[in-house]
Amino acid sequence: MNQAVTPAALSVRDLRKTYDNGVEALKGVSLDVVPGDFYALLGPNGAGKSTLIGIISSLVNKTAGEVRVFDVDIHAERSRAMRLLGLVPQELNFNMFEKPLDILVNYAGFYGIPRAEAIVRAEAELRSAQLWDKAQMMSRTLSGGMKRRLMIARAMMTRPRLLILDEPTAGVDIEIRRGMWQTLRRINASGTTIILTTHYLEEAENLCRNLAIIDHGRIVESGPMRSLLAKLDVEGFLLDVEDALPDTLPEIPGAEVRAVDAHTLDVDMPRAMDLNRVFAALDAAGIHVRSMRNKSNRLEELFVRMTGDATPAAAATGAAA
Ligand SMILES: Nc1ncnc2c1ncn2[C@@H]1O[C@H](COP(=O)(O)OP(=O)(O)O)[C@@H](O)[C@H]1O
Ligand SMILES: [Mg+2]
Repeated sequence: MNQAVTPAALSVRDLRKTYDNGVEALKGVSLDVVPGDFYALLGPNGAGKSTLIGIISSLVNKTAGEVRVFDVDIHAERSRAMRLLGLVPQELNFNMFEKPLDILVNYAGFYGIPRAEAIVRAEAELRSAQLWDKAQMMSRTLSGGMKRRLMIARAMMTRPRLLILDEPTAGVDIEIRRGMWQTLRRINASGTTIILTTHYLEEAENLCRNLAIIDHGRIVESGPMRSLLAKLDVEGFLLDVEDALPDTLPEIPGAEVRAVDAHTLDVDMPRAMDLNRVFAALDAAGIHVRSMRNKSNRLEELFVRMTGDATPAAAATGAAA
């Protein structure tokens, strides 16, 4: 049981999913999302993001573990949990030959919302999605960005407390993406908890307060966006030195220096810092570096795979490479 006074908007415990073909898509995922949060699940293709969202929204059966939405167990009380959730799936899945107004009203009907009420809500949602002037057009004729906003408006028809979006901006251009960010910020500001999946660090950075990074079915990192960026901005080296290290190592402002063994130093320093300053300071202390190598950084490797960008943190924060 969740002991907290205010239950988490989402609580996932040791969630596992093995598909029938033997693929282990989730290998024990745990996470908590606080009410009101804007939370990103960041991960490369195949990481398990859609599987996780599919389980939370009851479209995919879990193999093991527990999921609670505002303290309602999605397995034990499926329909109660579903009423708290709004889902925007990865693919456009409305009928292209229906009009936006009808799509929203019919969706609400499916959730038992009376027609008169549904029409009132649909107008409000279409207006706030800037689609009211398209309410009677064939949906097929809407632009890509409008179709995406229609998906969000539809999910909002049930007034969900938790809105979940699976890669809402994948494959859309930057202009449309920015517009959608505005829409999502507004929804979050009005009190709806939002979780989205993305493989864009930039998107998570712009929108989210907290995040989890998922890779190969496991959470490899989680916490506030700020601390993640700080971690990515640090570079680590291992230095092999000629003579045995002295007992006291020199202080190098900005850098963290530790002895690993008598002949190896571990140095962490901001990406923007000049490595020569470190060498000079060590030299002055009689420590001569024979060779050096980069410490492998799990996070960094992950971002390289996600974005193909070798210095994602530097690009994201504007720091010098
Ligand atoms: N219905 C399915 N049957 C078998 N394997 C699947 C199915 N759906 C996804 N997978 C596999 O599970 C893993 C995670 O996929 P997915 O959750 O879609 O990741 P993501 O959304 O992060 O790209 C991948 O290896 C994928 O091939
Ligand atoms: Mg996916």
